[in-house]
Amino acid sequence: MHILVTGAAGFIGSHTVLELLESGYTVLCIDNFANAISDEHGNAISLKRVAAITGKPVPFQNVDVCDEAALEKVFAENKFDGVIHLAALKAVGESVAKPLQYYSNNLVASLNLIQMCLKYNVKNFVFSSSATVYGPPSELPITEKSQTGQGITNPYGQTKYMMEQILIDVGKANPEWNVVLLRYFNPVGAHKSGLIGEDPKGVPNNLMPYVGQVAIGKLPVLTIYGDQFDTVDGTGVRDYIHVVDLAKGHVKAFDRIKNVGNVGTEIYNLGTGVGYSVRQMVDALKKVSGRDIPVKIGVPRPGDVASVFCDPSLAQEKLGWRAENGLEEMCADLWNWQTKNPQGFSA
Ligand code: WQD
Repeated sequence: MHILVTGAAGFIGSHTVLELLESGYTVLCIDNFANAISDEHGNAISLKRVAAITGKPVPFQNVDVCDEAALEKVFAENKFDGVIHLAALKAVGESVAKPLQYYSNNLVASLNLIQMCLKYNVKNFVFSSSATVYGPPSELPITEKSQTGQGITNPYGQTKYMMEQILIDVGKANPEWNVVLLRYFNPVGAHKSGLIGEDPKGVPNNLMPYVGQVAIGKLPVLTIYGDQFDTVDGTGVRDYIHVVDLAKGHVKAFDRIKNVGNVGTEIYNLGTGVGYSVRQMVDALKKVSGRDIPVKIGVPRPGDVASVFCDPSLAQEKLGWRAENGLEEMCADLWNWQTKNPQGFSA
């Protein structure tokens, strides 16, 4: 199968492209470099490294999914069997400060893509959704039947929820479509080669890239946002998943579509089912890196909840997928990437 991957040059995208190629899929990658870095020739550095790791071609075009004409050209010049839609602005805090930019970018891009799929008869759509659609968990562990759309405290999460609703309705109106919504929990780590990994622009918003930069001395101290939560040690608990496991979940989604034919619309949690606290994550990276990681206690971020972790059994049952990497591998692979690329891709 030939797959169009949007947002392909990013952290999740580059790892997903790698696993698709390793599983025999062919791809066309597009990205507008909103969250990725290009070389002097306009190539995506992360995807050049994917080509080096796999020894396979990684065709790439610098295309903004919001640019309808440019996107139509891509569909007119290629025959896709499916799409994996990863392109989105994803910084929760930034989305609160710039809601219109997030609604406009994330929704317009997705609507353009859906319209092109309808026009060019591309019926298999895998969407990068997020655990954020659950809002403050109504129950733990979170299952795919848990309540969604209530109490989402940021425009980023709202765009993910809205896109899920849009895709569910498009799936109902087009029963021959296969729509798979993958709800990511907290992706961390890097490919074992250490050649690709998470390379946030500016100061990292998420925990583990921040902890990694403290460990290598790029940042002085980690602020733990609250240590009075009702958790094992008072710090926030999340379901961290190795980015390679997450990437493999996308391949399994297409494998299922290929093997079953028509699955309709399906939703899967991609997490490990195990929650770790901030302090446990810091200690795990300390152990792997041998470095000190200074921390200080700050106030909780608005909207932050105590614990979020999922029940991943539906993906295991239907996709034959489960996370294979544990905390030690997540931290070891993060540290390997961090030490080999102290300046990320820009070095
Ligand atoms: C994890 C834990 C923080 C930074 C977000 C998005 C979600 C997804 C993943 C895109 C929390 C604590 C963090 C720091 C800290 N992104 N923390 N100090 O908030 O669970 O989820 O990222 O899809 O949609 O909502 O991840 O990494 O920001 O925080 O103490 O400097 O680490 O309070 O408990 P989060 P996170």
